[in-house]
Amino acid sequence: MDASLYQPKPKMFQPQMPVPTVSHTTHQMTNYYGQSYIAYCTEEETMFPDGRLITSRTDLDGIITHVNDAFVMMSGWERDELLGAAHSILRHPDMPAIAFKGLWGDLAEGKKWHGYVKNLRKDGGFYWVYATVIPNIRHGKVVGYTSVRRKPPRSQVEACTKLYAELLEQERQAKAQG
Ligand SMILES: Cc1cc2nc3c(=O)[nH]c(=O)nc-3n(C[C@H](O)[C@H](O)[C@H](O)COP(=O)(O)O)c2cc1C
Repeated sequence: MDASLYQPKPKMFQPQMPVPTVSHTTHQMTNYYGQSYIAYCTEEETMFPDGRLITSRTDLDGIITHVNDAFVMMSGWERDELLGAAHSILRHPDMPAIAFKGLWGDLAEGKKWHGYVKNLRKDGGFYWVYATVIPNIRHGKVVGYTSVRRKPPRSQVEACTKLYAELLEQERQAKAQG
């Protein structure tokens, strides 16, 4: 799509993913803006392509304003579906909330954030990335954020799979206890 034709969609737009045609689990999700939606997950992993970077930019609210071709390819969504959507369109239910609290906390302090993220594809599959997120500063003011993602070492993917499962379980228990 021609960037000059881009018209922001209403804020807090969370596209609903289609039901996968293969075996999947179903998750009731609520995003940061309080919108409910359903996420479907399959066990199908897509490997990060060698020698590529996946990039996106958002506004101050985490609404996607730019994606590169590798982002479109890996997410499985069309560019038109991504622009104007909340970045939580990629949120995988296996990701603990604390990871994103850390991300938004660091950005609020004007700092960079690095981390390993399991992302959800439109078809319910997933892909791991090593992400660096930075504030975009114009004339001394933060005007949005950029994320650049690299291929993660497999050892870190395995370590994070374990760590995130533990953190998620702790979050579930804390929620159950009120
Ligand atoms: C520049 C930028 C890039 C982001 N990239 C991702 C991403 O790749 N995957 C993801 O799940 N969340 C990403 N987020 C965080 C989401 O905005 C969101 O906080 C997260 O998906 C959790 O959803 P929730 O905040 O609605 O609970 C990114 C945020 C920013 C500002």
